[in-house]
Amino acid sequence: MNVVLVGPPGAGKGTQAQRLQETYGLRHLSTGDMLRAEVAGGTAIGKQAKAIMERGELVPDAILINMIAERIGQPDAAKGFLLDGFPRTVAQAEALDTTLSARKQRLDHVIQLVVDNDAMVERISGRFSCKKCGAGYHDSFRPTKKAGVCDACGSTEMVRRPDDKPETVRTRLAAYDKQTAPLLPYYRRQGVLREVDGMAPIDTVARLLGNLIDAA
Ligand code: AP5
Repeated sequence: MNVVLVGPPGAGKGTQAQRLQETYGLRHLSTGDMLRAEVAGGTAIGKQAKAIMERGELVPDAILINMIAERIGQPDAAKGFLLDGFPRTVAQAEALDTTLSARKQRLDHVIQLVVDNDAMVERISGRFSCKKCGAGYHDSFRPTKKAGVCDACGSTEMVRRPDDKPETVRTRLAAYDKQTAPLLPYYRRQGVLREVDGMAPIDTVARLLGNLIDAA
């Protein structure tokens, strides 16, 4: 089964993808994580992407299209993948269709996490994670049990994403409305678009996603 999660920054794509990966054994592929690894590794792609990401704009299509075409061809994605953050433009969606049809594969579900954009600034700007083990937290919605100490591994090194500042989040939301929202009619026409209420609590969203996938 191949699934795409669509939604603006903060909609919960990463949070839900992690759960779906565990439940359904799908390979979670996050283009944001892939790009952050390139930035951290100081690669040519990372050097090109860093400033663009820090401004909250989209990295050029060609980079992402090649990255995903290569990644979904790897053995760990053969039993199914879950795309988080890709496609993000109609050009990326068209390229994905071409790659999949050449591999005799298709998308089974494109699931939109429907949220109120205005609430996303608070969601994202309160987010932080443990530098050591990657466990995710939120100042208001999911604080650590002991301030500044990771519940999972006990580390005291917490990090925030450089693009999670409120003004950058607003740029990211505008990029979503302008460049990514046109994917919705594109996939609606293909008959694969489904919707889930992304404003519900995290466990409820997970249950709604599971119901939708199980019913297919
Ligand atoms: P990327 O890493 O993909 O970021 P994003 O889409 O902006 O998504 P986020 O990770 O911020 O949000 P999310 O929906 O995953 O929410 P999360 O689960 O973390 O991309 C970063 C950058 O890389 C882009 O700006 C661009 O520059 C570049 N890029 C990436 N892919 C690209 C592409 N294909 N083309 C071009 N450029 C690309 O949740 C957020 C917070 O809310 C968490 O704290 C979480 O605990 C909380 N939360 C989640 N769900 C709920 C809920 N239901 N109720 C309450 N709190 C919740």
